[in-house]
Amino acid sequence: MEGDGRKTKTVCVTGAGGFVASWLVQRLLSSGDYTVHGTVRDPSDPKNGHLEALAGAGERLSLFKADVLDYASVASAVAGCDGVFHVASPVPAAKTQNPEVEVLAPAVKGTQNVLKACHEAKVRRVVVVSSAAAVIMNPNFPKDAVLDEDAWSDEDYCRNTGMWYCLSKTLAEREALAYAEKTGLDVVTVCPPLVLGPLLQPVANTRSLVLINLLKGDRDTVEDKARNMVDVRDLADALILVYENPEASGRYICSAYRKRLSEMVDIARSFCPDLNRPKKFVEAEDDDRMMRSRKMEALGWKFRAVEECLRDSVESYKAAGFL
Ligand SMILES: NC(=O)c1ccc[n+]([C@@H]2O[C@H](COP(=O)([O-])OP(=O)(O)OC[C@H]3O[C@@H](n4cnc5c(N)ncnc54)[C@H](OP(=O)(O)O)[C@@H]3O)[C@@H](O)[C@H]2O)c1
Repeated sequence: MEGDGRKTKTVCVTGAGGFVASWLVQRLLSSGDYTVHGTVRDPSDPKNGHLEALAGAGERLSLFKADVLDYASVASAVAGCDGVFHVASPVPAAKTQNPEVEVLAPAVKGTQNVLKACHEAKVRRVVVVSSAAAVIMNPNFPKDAVLDEDAWSDEDYCRNTGMWYCLSKTLAEREALAYAEKTGLDVVTVCPPLVLGPLLQPVANTRSLVLINLLKGDRDTVEDKARNMVDVRDLADALILVYENPEASGRYICSAYRKRLSEMVDIARSFCPDLNRPKKFVEAEDDDRMMRSRKMEALGWKFRAVEECLRDSVESYKAAGFL
């Protein structure tokens, strides 16, 4: 209950200091409807400092120190919550030395721990942030395929090609949906593609570096791949929409646009002409398959124009000194 007598619901957001989760926490707090338990691995790390500065944080945000691999720490954060948004998962920047430990275990065992804690705490609904990485990595999909929620990445293909992040997201999402089936826990999964948009956190996350590095212009030749994208603010809205809408169930693709890397750079440069452009874009061997977000749009999900997404992204990178 708020001081003004307004009733709030309590929800937990795992990995609260990350790029996507920070916007989710911002949206939850700014609505005035929620009290938030945010988990972070190190509450004293300055990279999480922005959370306490969010409007409403003083009254309605509590940070919990939790590693998703440590069940007890997760259970303390989830206790007393109506809902949980499971966002925490490693997004590795480069090739990992030990994918089992660094990527697969935190994604899969971490998801199992969060779901078990939710089941025991009788949480009403759990929203799991999955990824297009769990949807599109399948060599059997034709090049012109338009993928919907029935599409799944091929686990053997991901394993054999060393795409550990894609494998981690595929295994974790399957685990989440199987757990829901087995226990009756209400689980909804959301699969965003490349997420762009302004940063709230002070460090650049791995995926924002895709655009930042392109605009630094220090790469001579770039494969001009078509990428599916969504703005982080629209993704945060989508996560709250599937949490709040009683009709929501199962899996949701959350993709707004599909652009070639060269188009993304050109749109960004139309707002900031001083930004660099890679010297040469070459035809890509394989594009991301198209994704359809009809199921999400049927819930009333709306997304902003790609120009606004890219303009606000680059303005934020510049303000933070990344460009
Ligand atoms: N950004 C994208 O383009 C994109 C696209 C599709 C899906 N996603 C998904 O969105 C989610 C957030 O990604 P992001 O882009 O926001 O990345 P991010 O900024 O790197 O956030 C990842 C978060 O996961 C946390 N984490 C990692 N391992 C953990 C562990 N063992 N215990 C607790 N927390 C742990 C990190 O905490 P620390 O700060 O302590 O490391 C961090 O808060 C992930 O599930 C990712 O797969 C992102």
